[in-house]
Amino acid sequence: MENMLDRIKGTTNFLKSNGFNGPEVGIILGTGLGRLVRHIEIDHVLEYDKIPDFPVSTVESHDGKLIYGRIGNKKVVAMQGRFHYYEGYSMQQIVFPVRVMKMLGVKYLLVSNAAGNVNLSFRKGELMLLTDHINLLGDNPLIGPNLDELGTRFPDMSSPYSEFLNSKISAIAERHGIKLNKGIYAAVAGPNLETRAEYRYMRTIGADLVGMSTIPEVIAANHMKLPVAAISVITDECDPDNLKPVNIREILEVAGRAEVSLTKVFVDLVKEL
Ligand code: HPA
Repeated sequence: MENMLDRIKGTTNFLKSNGFNGPEVGIILGTGLGRLVRHIEIDHVLEYDKIPDFPVSTVESHDGKLIYGRIGNKKVVAMQGRFHYYEGYSMQQIVFPVRVMKMLGVKYLLVSNAAGNVNLSFRKGELMLLTDHINLLGDNPLIGPNLDELGTRFPDMSSPYSEFLNSKISAIAERHGIKLNKGIYAAVAGPNLETRAEYRYMRTIGADLVGMSTIPEVIAANHMKLPVAAISVITDECDPDNLKPVNIREILEVAGRAEVSLTKVFVDLVKEL
């Protein structure tokens, strides 16, 4: 694990020497949600496979680039394309970029993802601000010797999503007339979508949305006391009594449409931080 810390520091230094200097906000863009990048005045771009010790993205809809630039007068570092557990990466690999972003100096982390709603009062195409989560991935990025330099052995998770960021996000959404649901995100490993019985289970245990990402990064951020906020784009309605075969193309299409609102919220938030 000393090794892991050395790798995090090594990659951080590599990025600094490539101009990734003093970013204030880290951003992770989920499946089909890369549009925010158009709002960044880009100074530097590195493909993941050019960055030492970065995992390489394998999913088609992910571009796999680390971007450094400015939104307004804020310096940001953004991941266009993230790493999923179902791709075969270890939890440590998935959170490696988050740890590097923190070591580069980011003060806030913003995350987006696509998810299905089991709370049927929500509608596809809407957004949900995460207020809490349920980790059903069956794994955890903090397993193994603790990296004391990053955080404590038993991190508190009583408030995993920053109330400061969440209240700003709520105000911004309201200002733009964007409907922003709030609720609990459950993450499963995937890659298959859920059965009817599994969707019923998700609802029973208190989840509002289900997806396959975000929680590892949020756990790593909390470990490092890095304030984090996450917004889901709701792409499919998971009604166990009326379940249609999944259509990934439609999921990506819906994500693309809702992305406009998501992008507005994140861009304004970054400017206001
Ligand atoms: N389940 C899991 N992950 C997802 C879903 C879903 O219904 N929709 C988008 N990502």
